[in-house]
Amino acid sequence: MQIAKILELDSLHSALLSWYHAYGRANLPWRNLPRDGSYAYHIYISEIMLQQTQVSRVLESYFFPFLARFPTLSALADSSQQEVLHLWQGLGYYSRARNLHACAKLCVKQYNSMLPDSLRALQALPGIGAYTAGAILCFGFGQKASFADSNIARVLQRLVGKPLTQSQLLALAESLLPQADKVFDYHQALIDLGAMLCTRSPQCVKCPIASHCASAFKPPLPPKPKPRIPLTLHLALSQKRDSIALCKSQDKLYKDLYNLPLLAKQESHQSPLPTHHLLGSFTHAYTKYTITAYVYQAPKLANATYYPLNALPPIANLTKKALRYL
Ligand code: ADE
Repeated sequence: MQIAKILELDSLHSALLSWYHAYGRANLPWRNLPRDGSYAYHIYISEIMLQQTQVSRVLESYFFPFLARFPTLSALADSSQQEVLHLWQGLGYYSRARNLHACAKLCVKQYNSMLPDSLRALQALPGIGAYTAGAILCFGFGQKASFADSNIARVLQRLVGKPLTQSQLLALAESLLPQADKVFDYHQALIDLGAMLCTRSPQCVKCPIASHCASAFKPPLPPKPKPRIPLTLHLALSQKRDSIALCKSQDKLYKDLYNLPLLAKQESHQSPLPTHHLLGSFTHAYTKYTITAYVYQAPKLANATYYPLNALPPIANLTKKALRYL
C-alpha cells in the first residue's frame, strides 16, 4: 500500500477510536464480558439478539435473563425449544430462537460443545450468516475478521460516497481493517458511529471521520420508503373457566409459538366478519406486515387444546394484545 494511504488509514483509525472512547457505548455489557470458557457463546447470543432489534430492547429484559437461564451452549442444547421461545417472547423474529436452539444442539454434537472458530464452519450453522459469522470471529475469538452489519454498511457507503454491492462492501471493509489488537474496538466504534451520528440524517458536524468522508455535509439521501404489507387476521377467543384455546402455529411468521385459533386470514385490510361476535380490534406492526386483528368471542371449540392463563406456552405480542379482550 502507498505510504500516503497508510497514513490516511492510520489517521482514520485513530480519529474513530478516540471518538469511541470519548462518546461511544463502550460500557455495553457484550463489550465487557468475562473472558471465560463461554465468552464466544455469550457474544454469539448478543449478536443474534441485536439482529433487527434495538440495543435498548435487548437490554430491557432479554440478554441477562437468557444468559442466566442458559449460561453455556450445553445448557441451551439441553433445554426444550419451548423454553427458549418463552425467553424470546416479545422480541420477534422467532426463527432466531429456534435457530439458536438447533445451533446449540449441533455444536454439542460436532464441536465438543463449543462454537467453531472459522468463517466457513460458523456460516454452516443455522441462523448464522456472513455478517454474524464475522462479528463472532472478531468479537468472540479476537480474529482480524471484517464484516458489515447495516450500521457499518451505511457508514462505509457514505465514506466512499456511493452505493456498493455486497462484494464491494466486503472488499472495502477488508481493506480498511486496522491491526489485530484494534479490530474489536474499531468495529464496535463503526457500529456506534452508524447508530449515533451516521444515521439517516447524519450529524456530520460531530463526526470524527468527516474529513475522510466523500458524503460529509452533503444533503442526506431521502429515506427509503418501507413497503408494509397489509394483513387481516380474524381470531377466536374461546375461554373455558381459567383456560383459553391456543393452537401451535405452523405459519412461517410465528412458527412454533401459540396463537389464538385463526378463523380467517386475508392479505389486505378488511372489515370484521359480520356473522361473528366481535369483541374488539387492534393494529399491530410485525416484520414487514401491518396487521389488523379482529378478536371474536367463540364458543367452546371441540378440537382445540385449552391452556391455563397462569401457565401459558410461548405467545407472541400479537396474542398478548388479543388477550386484553378476555
Ligand atoms: N448491533 C449489532 N452488533 C452490535 C454490537 N456489538 N453493539 C451494538 N449494536 C450492535
